[in-house]
Amino acid sequence: MQTIRYGGDYNPEQWPEETWREDVRLMREAGVNLVSLGVFNWGIIEPAPGEYDWSGLDEVIGLLHEGGIGVDLGTPTSSPPAWLRKAHPEIRLVDREGRTLAGGSRHGVCPSAPAYRDACASIVEQLAARYGGHPAVELWHVHNEYGWANVECYCEASTAAFQAWLAAKYGDVDRLNAAWGTAFWGLVYRSFDQIEAPAVAPPGVNPALQLDWKRFSNDEHIANYRLQREIIARRSKAPATTNFMIPNCEGMDYWRWAGEVDVVANNHYLIAEREDHQIELSMSADLTRAVAGGPWMIMEHSTSAVNWQPRNIAKTPGEMRRNSLAHVARGADGLMFFQWRASRAGAEKFHSAMVPHGGTDTQVWRDVAALGRDLERLSGVVGTDVAADVAMLWDWESWWALELEWRPSVDLKYRERVEAYYAALWRQHVTVDFAHPEADLSGYRLVVAPSSYVLTDAASKNLRGYVENGGHLVVSYFSGIVDEHDTVHPGAHPGALRETLGLWIEEFHPLREGEELGLDSASGAGIGGGAAGRIWSEHVRLDGARAVAHFAAGPDRGRPALTRHDLGRGTAWYAATALDGPTGLNDLLATAMEAAGVERPQGIPANVEVVRRGGHRFLINHTAQDVQVPGGGVDALDGTAYDGPVPVPAGGVVILADA
Ligand code: GLA
Repeated sequence: MQTIRYGGDYNPEQWPEETWREDVRLMREAGVNLVSLGVFNWGIIEPAPGEYDWSGLDEVIGLLHEGGIGVDLGTPTSSPPAWLRKAHPEIRLVDREGRTLAGGSRHGVCPSAPAYRDACASIVEQLAARYGGHPAVELWHVHNEYGWANVECYCEASTAAFQAWLAAKYGDVDRLNAAWGTAFWGLVYRSFDQIEAPAVAPPGVNPALQLDWKRFSNDEHIANYRLQREIIARRSKAPATTNFMIPNCEGMDYWRWAGEVDVVANNHYLIAEREDHQIELSMSADLTRAVAGGPWMIMEHSTSAVNWQPRNIAKTPGEMRRNSLAHVARGADGLMFFQWRASRAGAEKFHSAMVPHGGTDTQVWRDVAALGRDLERLSGVVGTDVAADVAMLWDWESWWALELEWRPSVDLKYRERVEAYYAALWRQHVTVDFAHPEADLSGYRLVVAPSSYVLTDAASKNLRGYVENGGHLVVSYFSGIVDEHDTVHPGAHPGALRETLGLWIEEFHPLREGEELGLDSASGAGIGGGAAGRIWSEHVRLDGARAVAHFAAGPDRGRPALTRHDLGRGTAWYAATALDGPTGLNDLLATAMEAAGVERPQGIPANVEVVRRGGHRFLINHTAQDVQVPGGGVDALDGTAYDGPVPVPAGGVVILADA
């Protein structure tokens, strides 16, 4: 990719042919250079089994090609045609309650069903044969949002596939019994075919069974992707991808997906009602960059409101531009929208688009066209990476395991802590990378582990080695408790981090709903005083670490609440409660960053995002006031040179190129 790819989902089958030429003309006007085509058209291109109608697709691809617009060609397998469901009722999705899902929508199929798999292979074979060599096809958009509504299927075929998956993983059922701890309640299996999918059951279903089920379900979708990708690769040299939903799809483990795609593509929609939704967007972008290991693309975001949230708040003036450029700042080399032209019919007609129902005499259209012109001037960032000194651990397996039933508190939520720590760093203008707990962390000055409930032995060694070799680590409560089978590490909690943190926990003391405990700063340490903890307290026993703050109240009054352990050449910090806000979390992170030598941009106004990427500095003003940002540079979009502070208008974005 030499220029930033710009465009959106294009669904010409919803429009009469007269619109197609006009679409191409408008796309050119807006600087669109790539569109996703055919993502949901299976029922149109294959009206009956083995009968194909390529007329519309041939023509549209030809028109786009003539217009110099590339095609990201969809495989339509997320919306199987009605005839397939009718001919093969066994492909219908069965949910956890055992209900068979009806048709009339997309996605409602079982990824493990042989008839569905065969039909996918057949339509993809046809598409690849017909368009694999077409010069307009620059990218393959396999399926759409794997796991959107069918992460798990509980039909008989799925159960059989799960049993086969387990047999391949463990070889011998006794190995599975040992890994799953089935001696508990005598839930022992004597053969793989005795194992049931974890559908609705009495409470207390074996957590290890549930974790393997989630891994299996993820793998079934990967298998479908691979099937399609391999067929395409035989016929086409164009790269292939599928659109992820980071971080809003809990069921897909995108660390496992990362190696399967040629370019990581993500869909991100603002959680519109949240006041600070720009922070969640940044987090999504940073996590997507981590999964990609470099540049990536936004396959879908919205020009304004979506249609599927409880209240679909429209974007405020300038917000779409801020959102789009924040993705670019954080590593996106492509910016695509759902969708090109707002639909008149169907379930998504109230979703914003690049061409709204009101046409081109609208602010949305003017903003879309202006953004296209801006992107043409930002080719210099394409292919470049984002620099970060701080990493945050992220693991879908911890998310899954932490939120299974019967934890010490229902308030233990994976994203609650990750987002709290991420937001505290964001508000201090610190760019964060995400990392898997077993990844090489040596390039980071500081690593933050807010919700690392599951840590394998390898991750435990990794974190210890990181600290001993000079790294700085901040860990939040209820981390390092269990291994990948949800089995408690031997000895006192937190087994995987005891030595690294220099402490052990005698007993957990979760708090009541809404309860807050004050903290006292230990003399001279300067953090924690005046802060309050929520959700959690525990009886921390020091074994090498020292307390920097104590609980001032509650069951652990007078006992350590925040600790510091100098180990080897590094330091490990621990928070035994949920900190928030300026006196708690910000202080802890500021102190840890100071000790770790993390450079923080100074003098940046609150709620202004500053990100460095490829010789550019992105200044994104999320406030309603004009601000000045220290430092100078040359405006990459209009060439203005600044010697001193750079003015960034209210709600605006300035991108400075290094001289
Ligand atoms: C998802 C889908 C799109 C569309 C949008 C609407 O991202 O991939 O097809 O439904 O949501 O926001």
